[in-house]
Amino acid sequence: MIFYFSATGNSKCVAERIAERTGTKTVSITDCLKNSKFDFVSNEIVGFVTPTYSWGLPVTVIDFINKLSLKSNNPYVFTVATCGTLTGGASRMLRCLLKEKGITVNAQFYVRMPDTWTPVFDLSDKKKVEKINGKAAVKIRSIANQIHRRVKGNRDYGRMPFADYFYKDYEAMRNTGSLSVSEKCVGCGLCAKLCPVEAIEIQNGKPVWVKEKCAMCLGCLHHCPEFAIQRGSKTALHGQYVHK
Ligand SMILES: Cc1cc2nc3c(=O)[nH]c(=O)nc-3n(C[C@H](O)[C@H](O)[C@H](O)COP(=O)(O)O)c2cc1C
Ligand code: SF4
Ligand code: SF4
Repeated sequence: MIFYFSATGNSKCVAERIAERTGTKTVSITDCLKNSKFDFVSNEIVGFVTPTYSWGLPVTVIDFINKLSLKSNNPYVFTVATCGTLTGGASRMLRCLLKEKGITVNAQFYVRMPDTWTPVFDLSDKKKVEKINGKAAVKIRSIANQIHRRVKGNRDYGRMPFADYFYKDYEAMRNTGSLSVSEKCVGCGLCAKLCPVEAIEIQNGKPVWVKEKCAMCLGCLHHCPEFAIQRGSKTALHGQYVHK
C-alpha cells in the first residue's frame, strides 16, 4: 500500500511505478482527506511518497499522517520525497511524524523532478523538462527495484543545516491572497474540483479563494486549461506543468 500526495503528477508517477514493480496498490492522500478515510489495514509493504515543500512537507501530508490509523503486519516501510533541487528536511520530517504514530521507516529515497514552484523555476522549455524526467525515470526504476528487494537505509541526504529555518517560509507562502485569476477563466470549475484542501469555490463563474491559507500546491495554476491562475508576476512566463 503506497500513500501519495501529488498536485502535478510527479509523486503520483513515482508511487505508481513502485506499485507496479512491487505488486501493491496506491492510495491518494487527497482522496483520503476529502473522504475522511484514515483507517487502513495492510499486510503488504507500506510506502509514503510526497513532494518537498520549502524543504519540508506539504500540510496535507502532515494532516493525513496525524489522522492515520494503520494496522500492518508487514515490517517494511519506505518513503520517497520528490523535489526540484533539494529535499532539505522533508525525509526527516516524514520519518519523525511516522515514528510518532508508531511506524518505523526502514528506507528513505528521493527523486529530482521538474520543480513545480514556478514563481521561481522556469518550466517553459519542454525539452529541458523532458530531459529532467528522463533522468528521473532511471532513478525511479532503480528505487522501485531496491524497494522490491526490501533494501534498508537512508538514501536521502543526511541532516541538512537550515532545513527547519527554510520550512518556516512555507507558512507565509500558503496565503491564498497571492493567487489571482485572469479574464481568460472560462468557469469550468476544474481548479475547485482538484484543490486538495477545498480552498476554491466557483462564484459567478469564477474561482474565489474562500480560505485564507491553502496547501499552495499550485495544482490549480498548473491544471487550468486556460492558464488563467497565476501567483505573482513570473508564473505566466514560466509555463504550466503536469507529469504525463
Ligand atoms: C509550494 C512548493 C514548494 C516547493 N519547495 C521545494 C523545495 O523546497 N525544494 C525542492 O527541491 N522542490 C520544491 N518544490 C518542488 C516540488 O517538490 C517538486 O516539483 C515535486 O516533484 C512536485 O510534486 P508533485 O508533481 O507530485 O506535486 C516545491 C513545490 C511547491 C509547489
Ligand atoms: S480551471 Fe481555470 S478556467 Fe477553469 S474555473 Fe478554474 S481558473 Fe477558470
Ligand atoms: S488553492 Fe490552488 S494552490 Fe492552493 S491548495 Fe488549492 S489547488 Fe493548491
